[in-house]
Amino acid sequence: MDKAIEVRNLKRVYRRLREPPFVAVDNMNFDVYEGEIFGLLGPNGAGKTTVIKILSTLLYPTEGFVRVGGFDVYRDVESIRSIINLVTGGEVAGYGILTVKESLWMFSQFYGIETKEALRRIEKYLKIVDMWDSRDTFLNKLSTGMVQRINLVRGLITDPKILFLDEPTLGLDVEGGRIVREIIKTWIGEREGRTVLLTTHYMAEADELCDRIAIINRGKLVACDTPENLKASISQDKYFEITVPYSKDLREEFLTNINGKVSIRDFPENGESLISLSLGEDKEIANFITILTQRGLEIKTFRKVEPTLEDVFIKLVGRKFEDEEAR
Ligand SMILES: Nc1ncnc2c1ncn2[C@@H]1O[C@H](COP(=O)(O)OP(=O)(O)OP(=O)(O)O)[C@@H](O)[C@H]1O
Ligand SMILES: [Mg+2]
Repeated sequence: MDKAIEVRNLKRVYRRLREPPFVAVDNMNFDVYEGEIFGLLGPNGAGKTTVIKILSTLLYPTEGFVRVGGFDVYRDVESIRSIINLVTGGEVAGYGILTVKESLWMFSQFYGIETKEALRRIEKYLKIVDMWDSRDTFLNKLSTGMVQRINLVRGLITDPKILFLDEPTLGLDVEGGRIVREIIKTWIGEREGRTVLLTTHYMAEADELCDRIAIINRGKLVACDTPENLKASISQDKYFEITVPYSKDLREEFLTNINGKVSIRDFPENGESLISLSLGEDKEIANFITILTQRGLEIKTFRKVEPTLEDVFIKLVGRKFEDEEAR
């Protein structure tokens, strides 16, 4: 697979007034392949925006080697800018005195797209994001969710090879976030050779949307893999939760006949017991179910508990994701 982005030994230091220099990105290495949705996942201040600014030629690296679409971010700024676009979540989509359509047309002209073609793309993507009916609305009359969708369209109409999205669902409600993620997936699947690099601090979003994720923390890359591999990497054990009718006399049998760890919590007020199992292999669960059935115990609920990216972060970084802000 061709590399869309190459990052080697990337370092970025911010010089500050009356304070020591701050290392926002420290010796980072990763590749993004053509056709991928690649996510930079990290808490506030991790360095995500700094990386995306470097990749989109808004900021020079302090050290390291970075190539975007095969071009060097120091020497080939113009070439990179012609094949990318950048959309930042929460930014203003243009000028309030312009309508949605006028604003998008204006941005298309910055990229030298012929008007007829620009209008064709504007119509196409406004329809995809369900905003065609709002095409003549002034930008300052739009809701946050609408602004975010228009921002995204602005990124799509220039038909970039590589699209950078900095927090594309920032501030959106559940439905708004879902729509934006759907658009990103549709766009990448529409034609071969398109690549998306996005940043997010929403774990579930990275999990659902990204082919691969780089988890970053305090300027350092702590892991880079598919969401599945990241989750599988933290534990070989398989977790299950089963609720059964409350019964006091089963424990001994559970604890002795099962090849794995079993813990039971009773909720007599609900008439239920919750059994948590940690098993070496998925198939071990069959033995357990057999014991329950032989005893005539009804299984009220059954759930396989998958690790989340939050668990991955805790395991790799040693603390919870939200705690990171205060450093
Ligand atoms: N111009 C600057 N001068 C000094 N420090 C900066 C500058 N820009 C960013 N920083 C610092 O660098 C660190 C990384 O910032 P960055 O914006 O890249 O993080 P982020 O991961 O995008 O965070 P967020 O989730 O809040 O957007 C932060 O601690 C920030 O305070
Ligand atoms: Mg940021």
